[in-house]
Amino acid sequence: MVNQREVHPFPIEERYDLGRLVTFMPNKRVPIHNWFYFKEGFSRDFTLLMFDWLQVKSGDWVLDPFCGAGTSLLASKEVGVNVVGVDVSPLAVFVTQVKTEDYDLEEIRDSAKEIFSKKFKSYDIKGLSPLTRRAFSRYSLEDILFFKEEIRRIEDHKVRNFFTLALMNSANRVTYGYKDGGVIKIFKRPVPPLKKMFKRTVKRMISNLKRAHFKGSEIKVDLGDARRMDFLQDNYFDSVITSPPYLNKIEYTKVYSIEYELFFRDVKFDNLRSYIGLNPKNVKDLFPELNLPEIAKAYLQDMNDSLKEIYRVMKDCSKCAIVIAEGAFPDRIVPIDILMADLAERMGLKVERIVVVNNRVVTRDRTVKIGRARESIIVMRK
Ligand SMILES: C[S@@+](CC[C@H](N)C(=O)[O-])C[C@H]1O[C@@H](n2cnc3c(N)ncnc32)[C@H](O)[C@@H]1O
Repeated sequence: MVNQREVHPFPIEERYDLGRLVTFMPNKRVPIHNWFYFKEGFSRDFTLLMFDWLQVKSGDWVLDPFCGAGTSLLASKEVGVNVVGVDVSPLAVFVTQVKTEDYDLEEIRDSAKEIFSKKFKSYDIKGLSPLTRRAFSRYSLEDILFFKEEIRRIEDHKVRNFFTLALMNSANRVTYGYKDGGVIKIFKRPVPPLKKMFKRTVKRMISNLKRAHFKGSEIKVDLGDARRMDFLQDNYFDSVITSPPYLNKIEYTKVYSIEYELFFRDVKFDNLRSYIGLNPKNVKDLFPELNLPEIAKAYLQDMNDSLKEIYRVMKDCSKCAIVIAEGAFPDRIVPIDILMADLAERMGLKVERIVVVNNRVVTRDRTVKIGRARESIIVMRK
């Protein structure tokens, strides 16, 4: 049992050269991966590196139970690995689906011609929230609503989703809002016309698809909760590669609220209650000796439930890589990587090593240094 930050039985390695790979940054230049900027994502190259570390072969089945914007699924599709992604966020599942779908390019081109030939009609923006109205110019918002309506008329759901993601991507390029930590801040700046941006984005996305090479594998995405994946069989997966939400960084519902309002109006926020760590009720303290903050206890319990499910669906001798970060509190840093490794071993996983890839200074009120928080990859075997 771990009872001190520095005393634990796990081999630790430092590989700060990998720090950037666990961020979304490298994806910004990679076709299809960059169809939606998902701040919390890791990179395609990280997935490929994990394929190497975990010895994933083409034809294997990989699971990502916190798949986010589908980085690991798209990378699997590129190299011919079968993959299942699960995420509790309808936005994440939608983005993953659109990025990993097979398309008929002729159909997409025809729809593009149709959409861009329509005469502009103005829609009332008054019904939108004050935040959304502040986050765009009136012209951009009216264009978004107009194209949204045109897209809604497309019959084929795959094509409709393709254009919805293109419009979301374009909206993100003309917004005054930017995601700063857990909040959206407004910064007025000159922006290009939405229609021009949308046209350019659709053209780029079509060209990305034209050049893409996929090796043929099965890709499945499920809207679900990693703590209860009853829809997955026991002992099924050859590898698990994933990155759960980080403690204290659970702001997905807030920072994507504009996307939800404009493109997923029917999704109620109640559906998102199952977000890890958001509902700290009846919490079991898995580390009573550490006297952890309530939110950290709840988070670790959620992680424990997810790890149990991950363990259940892994084949014997299969491997797992989890990217996770320590949690910062005003008075301390909670060593989540080590505590999760400890929980994993309690249920029968063997921790092979913890690879520290980032070690960031954490401050309170932006000035007082609390300490340093690690971001690590836990590599385990069943
Ligand atoms: C760090 S992000 C994963 C990013 C992903 N690796 C990528 O590259 O896009 C964590 C994800 O976990 C999801 N999540 C939160 N609670 C969950 C739960 N209970 N079950 C499944 N997914 C959950 C969030 O919606 C978010 O997309």
